[in-house]
Amino acid sequence: MCGIIGYVGSKNAPAILIEGLKKLEYRGYDSAGIAVLKNNKTIITKEKGTICKLEEKLKENMSTTGIGHTRWATHGVPNKINSHPHKVENITIVHNGIIENYLELKEKLINKGYNFKSDTDSEVACALICDLFKEKNDMQKVLEEFKKITRGAYAIGVLIDGVEDKIYAIRNKSPLIIGVSEEENFIASDVPAILEYTNKYILLEDMDIAIIGKNDISIFRSNKKIKNDIKIFDKKVDKIDKNGYKHFMLKEINEQPDVIRRTIESFSKKDLPNLTKYEKIDIVACGSAYHAGLIGEHLLSKKLKAVITTHIASEYRYKDINPNFKTLVIVISQSGETADSLEVIKKANEKNIDTLGIINVYKSSIAREVKYLVYTKAGFEISVATTKAYLSQITTFALMVNSKLNKEEIVKAINKTLKLEQDCINIAKKIKNQENLFFIGRGIDHYIGLEGSLKLKEISYIHSEAYPAGELKHGTISLVSKNTPFIATITDEVISEKTISNIKEVKARDGNITLIATEDIKVNEDYYDSLIQIPKVQKDLQPLLAIIILQLISYHTARLRGCDIDKPRNLAKSVTVE
Ligand code: AGP
Repeated sequence: MCGIIGYVGSKNAPAILIEGLKKLEYRGYDSAGIAVLKNNKTIITKEKGTICKLEEKLKENMSTTGIGHTRWATHGVPNKINSHPHKVENITIVHNGIIENYLELKEKLINKGYNFKSDTDSEVACALICDLFKEKNDMQKVLEEFKKITRGAYAIGVLIDGVEDKIYAIRNKSPLIIGVSEEENFIASDVPAILEYTNKYILLEDMDIAIIGKNDISIFRSNKKIKNDIKIFDKKVDKIDKNGYKHFMLKEINEQPDVIRRTIESFSKKDLPNLTKYEKIDIVACGSAYHAGLIGEHLLSKKLKAVITTHIASEYRYKDINPNFKTLVIVISQSGETADSLEVIKKANEKNIDTLGIINVYKSSIAREVKYLVYTKAGFEISVATTKAYLSQITTFALMVNSKLNKEEIVKAINKTLKLEQDCINIAKKIKNQENLFFIGRGIDHYIGLEGSLKLKEISYIHSEAYPAGELKHGTISLVSKNTPFIATITDEVISEKTISNIKEVKARDGNITLIATEDIKVNEDYYDSLIQIPKVQKDLQPLLAIIILQLISYHTARLRGCDIDKPRNLAKSVTVE
């Protein structure tokens, strides 16, 4: 989602801003822009589309102060006018987040004579800052007032015409850090964006205001200047490279043998609380991480007495957590920045409820907020559609119930499963022109279907639904006619007979079944049209192999349809707005 970068120092700001924006590209964006201060005025260059397009438009503008932004549209279509930076009179800003009461603020500002060019809440924020600055002439006081007037989430970087060497910043619920270096300082949405220059950073907390010069940084918390708490980012960030693969997604699918090895090797029960002491465990996440949570619930429920339920974070954050039970909230997140998941943790912390994070990105916002923390070891994931991070999340749950997984066996089985790619391509050819598709399975196989369905939707844009196989006959089977495509998964032999009955019901209505089944599960060949058999491994890890097949089918279907696989339309890697 939107990314922010800012630079103040003695070097050429536009070049540094562009490089910073490139590092933020993985978050997902549809337009980009920069503003640099030159001869006491900001010069803005912005463009719909890629950062490379923006780079082409940049004129030779030597400047030593500037701010940059990648925009992921929330208010108003992706176009040049709606993209950032926004400028109102002498104030220029970049903004990540959503100002919820912007319409009411806009009306007041229009009545005061302001005109708006864009449809964005960000231009309203800019006009509000401009208006307050006329009255107060002191940006710290302006931003203090801004906090009181606005509702919502924001990380904002501000430049003032005539103030050559200062960036002003404020954050509330959207990520923002300050990069600290010698005679130059930065603002950024995350640390990797500035790592080329410095590994020293200051984390801004919600409602902090900062004034950043090339030799000085002042941070104000509750209207008082605080001591700068400089932290060190002590981890190397992986090189961003497709390594010969056509897409990051395919590269990341193929990294899964290493990922599982690392996840198993680094797992330590010491990072966990004593799970047996809880009466209730709420697993909370979004998207694929939610699907991993469902598998986690399935695995943990077999071991623990606690009542375990999985929730979608955007729903859970508005529910009351029953204080009568000793509760653990487990949040799963690849990015560690997902706004809804972060709010769940903050709410639990306020109520003194124990929290455990299963997080992939080192020192991300959620990683910093949770009481207990397990890092999944998927490495940097670039493709918007998650594959290896999801796999490491399920593996973490499997390790929570059995820390002695047979690493060599599963690595071998994953490698064997990856060799089934041609079978997946054949299925992709079969489904590439479909408009609708069903994924069916029971229990854990249904949860895999949910993830397979999400993967297919997000990158190939084919509509699909994942159904518990036994539920079809309660309504949805009315949609089955000649050749309606189904992908059925059977990895759990305890319920295989039941799923086979449901498959027969589909076949009896001329549906087309692609079956993904563990090699020891015998299904009469009259009941399917295509079959992919996956190796048998210990039970808790069996879902991992089935999901790899579904990842490959989705990938090749999207490829055959000519889709932009790593950056699917409308999606962002890190969802930092509600
Ligand atoms: C998965 O392919 C998606 N891109 C998406 O559902 C993702 O899993 C979700 O937004 C949660 O993200 P997180 O793991 O970074 O919190």
